[in-house]
Amino acid sequence: MISSSPDKITQTEKICNQHNFESYPAVNASTNPSIATQSRKADHIRICLEEDVQFHQTTNGLERYRFTHCCLPELDRNEIDISTTFLGKRVGAPLLISSMTGGTEQAGIINYRLAEVAQHYKLAMGVGSQRVAVEKPQLADTFAVRKCAPDVLLFANLGAVQLNYDYGLDQCLRIIDILEADALILHLNPLQESIQTRGDTNFKGLLDKIYQVCQKLPVPVIAKEVGNGISAAMAEKLIAAGVTAIDVAGAGGTSWAKVEGERASNPLQRRLGTTFADWGLPTAECIRSIRAAKSDIPLIASGGLRNGLDVAMAIALGADLAGLAMPFLQAAAESGSALHNLAEVLVAEITTVLFCTGNSTLNDLKHSGTLEQRQ
Ligand SMILES: Cc1cc2nc3c(=O)[nH]c(=O)nc-3n(C[C@H](O)[C@H](O)[C@H](O)COP(=O)(O)O)c2cc1C
Repeated sequence: MISSSPDKITQTEKICNQHNFESYPAVNASTNPSIATQSRKADHIRICLEEDVQFHQTTNGLERYRFTHCCLPELDRNEIDISTTFLGKRVGAPLLISSMTGGTEQAGIINYRLAEVAQHYKLAMGVGSQRVAVEKPQLADTFAVRKCAPDVLLFANLGAVQLNYDYGLDQCLRIIDILEADALILHLNPLQESIQTRGDTNFKGLLDKIYQVCQKLPVPVIAKEVGNGISAAMAEKLIAAGVTAIDVAGAGGTSWAKVEGERASNPLQRRLGTTFADWGLPTAECIRSIRAAKSDIPLIASGGLRNGLDVAMAIALGADLAGLAMPFLQAAAESGSALHNLAEVLVAEITTVLFCTGNSTLNDLKHSGTLEQRQ
């Protein structure tokens, strides 16, 4: 499934792939929790690449908008600047490779390919939940992409619910350290945990634990969903608890109810996966409502963004950065060059929006009023 033919591996990838992935343990079905976590990670990649796990009825909400075309931009397209700053660090484009994976040989290859393209284009990047690296320290290297991405805004990742299952400040510090991360993403995934086999479903008292972690960590904390969205009311609570930024990860893209439904070992879980396949708040709605409530919170749009036009619309609606997961996964599974092609296309699409709306920077686009609701 993951192509790694030598001609497709770039020079940097070769340098970054000087890891002995062969020495990692084989992934077998087992009741050992860390092996179970590894097996889950492998399933997630396989299911996302092979099955239809996209939302069907619920959309990301961006189809309700369009940009006003400008027939005479009075700009040189080559001078358009799509760089921006997020959490104090410069990025070459308003793009985030959303949190996805780590913890298996295949996941390590994907992470290093993603890191190489992130470094080349100065994109922000997240890795998947690093719980497996705490459980099995020898797997930390499948996440440790900083050596390939020295200038990149890198986000560590942990399920917030783990704070109710023996994880605390020490584990958060450990996973930040593995990545030399600029920030920690705590993801919120009650629907996914409800459908997952032996999911962690005790979310009681979590806001206070998030508050404790935010108080003590040396890096900012980002609260993120996984594809069901964050409402303005919840964003306000999370911000009051000390979270620095929000990634809405709204509905309209990859459906984690579907993914977990595909993995499900019993009919009840499969049924839940089907019933809740289209559950959630569309990405566009989350962005609009959170931005209306909090004018200055660093805000990431993600969930169903599939091209640079989606990215530009999300920025015009009030996001500062836009994350894509599935498109980067598909390209990474193919090759390093497929990833470079994807990044080139996204950059060209965002640039074209700015040019054809007469804006020379993302900041201009945000304040231009060129995004309108379709009639
Ligand atoms: C294979 C895969 C694994 C994922 N694992 C994680 C994870 O560990 N932590 C997390 O916060 N989000 C995870 N996600 C969710 C994505 O970050 C994203 O929020 C979601 O897929 C919606 O974005 P999309 O529609 O662009 O795919 C994963 C997504 C994919 C495709």
